Amino acid sequence: MDKESLYNQIGGAQTINRLVHAFYPKVYAHPVLRPLFPDGVDEIRAKQYLFLTQFTGGPTLYTDKYGFGNMKSIHEQFRISPSHADAWLTCMREAMDEIELQGYPRQLLFQMMTNAANRFVNTPEE
Ligand code: HEM
Repeated sequence: MDKESLYNQIGGAQTINRLVHAFYPKVYAHPVLRPLFPDGVDEIRAKQYLFLTQFTGGPTLYTDKYGFGNMKSIHEQFRISPSHADAWLTCMREAMDEIELQGYPRQLLFQMMTNAANRFVNTPEE
């Protein structure tokens, strides 16, 4: 793991843990996103913690546990429109505000998430 990794720049495990705890209550309270998340929050929050650890260049927790599943194909089982992507990113922006993640590392992480969210869109607006 690189000392200058985004993972270290944002504050590592503690920040990612705070971020996923701030994020999912917003997702579950969001009228556009809520229908896509019928199950309890604990499992998805735990998976997202593992995934974001790896996504930012930290330990490879997600693939150690779940293998090399492709995130795009995992998202293909859901109908994701541009409004879903916007709503997801809005919740994430608010979560970053809430935990006061700031500066260049925040911008970079948010840009990486925006790129991913846009690639997961697979359905036109309804
Ligand atoms: C474009 C907007 C997005 C929507 C609507 C969306 C929706 C979903 C849904 C419905 C699930 C399954 C939830 C469950 O199992 O209960 C899921 C899983 C997941 N999503 Fe997303 N997602 C989006 C973007 C993203 C982005 C940008 C990332 C990461 C950068 C991400 C990472 C994950 C991860 C790690 C999982 C768990 C995968 C697994 O089952 O192992 N998602 N997402």
